[in-house]
Amino acid sequence: DASPGVFSGIQPTGIPHLGNYLGALQSWVKLQDEFSSVLYSIVDLHSITVPQDPGVLRESILDMTACLLACGIDPEKSILFQQSQVPEHAELGWIFGCLTSMPRLRHLPQWKIKNQNQKNEGSVGLFTYPVLQSADILLYKSTHVPVGDDQIQHMELTQDTARTFNQRFGQIFPIPKALMTTSKKIRSLRDPSSKMSKSDPQNLATVRLMDSPDEITLKFRKAITDFTSEVTFDPEGRPGVSNLIAIHSAMTGLTPEDIVPQSRGLETAKYKLVVAEAIIEKLMPIQEEIRRLRADKGYLREVLNRGTMKAREVAAPVYEEVCRLVGF
Ligand code: ADP
Ligand code: NA
Repeated sequence: DASPGVFSGIQPTGIPHLGNYLGALQSWVKLQDEFSSVLYSIVDLHSITVPQDPGVLRESILDMTACLLACGIDPEKSILFQQSQVPEHAELGWIFGCLTSMPRLRHLPQWKIKNQNQKNEGSVGLFTYPVLQSADILLYKSTHVPVGDDQIQHMELTQDTARTFNQRFGQIFPIPKALMTTSKKIRSLRDPSSKMSKSDPQNLATVRLMDSPDEITLKFRKAITDFTSEVTFDPEGRPGVSNLIAIHSAMTGLTPEDIVPQSRGLETAKYKLVVAEAIIEKLMPIQEEIRRLRADKGYLREVLNRGTMKAREVAAPVYEEVCRLVGF
């Protein structure tokens, strides 16, 4: 009954990094041509689950808008909007919160990690943010959700919530599926056992889309490899150099089978510079576009406002239907 539709969100917490770009945003761009209904949300309600600076958040929302547009998100093909401007997200989140038990949320591994990062004093919002995520998705009756593997448990919660609501009140929600996009997991340049992340305090570990050529070269030069100087692809045995190959591959479309023979006779120290060059070259036009867009706040706000209006058009009747079924 539900027509296929994509929903995904990204937090406006700084400039996206290579992991976000290669693991998520590139597939977001492709999905725009594969589905007729596609919504991408800058999820600012999620980004206040940990303390934020209002001025920084305001600018980060515009940064993220510019980055998404520069990477190929096209507001004619998808609905790009700011989550907090569609009040039905929070309203549906409240209703879903009343259908979700505390123990169900307490067992989610992401809560345990994120709460530890808050010295075990995480907010109620941080605790219930997977409930809000379920509302984000189901508010549009979305059927497909591109996510990384760290979000699998949250997708299961969303599916359970849809089933629970349907059983108690009436069959209105599709059971959405996770679209696994992060087969290309990009790892920290300083610790290949963990993923590249916006919240990594190690400045050299993460390459962001707006890093200058010098910063990119420095970060790759300082990337952790091992004591073997040959370039070989062995993600288990040689995670450091294999991560460099994975980044190189994801960025250029070359496969590791192309890259390894090309790099024969090259020491890893030299290979790091080859990868840095490839990244700098690929990012150059994107960076120019980000700068151009970022200079025009009026245009960025207009894109978000138009997206918000379109999102509300879809969300409002679904939320009305929910209210009627719940008894409001
Ligand atoms: P971060 O963990 O850096 O804050 P988010 O949680 O905002 O990033 O993730 C936004 C999107 O980017 C998600 O779809 C997530 O799966 C993807 N993503 C984040 N980090 C990586 C990574 N290192 N490799 C691949 N994809 C990633
Ligand atoms: Na995050």
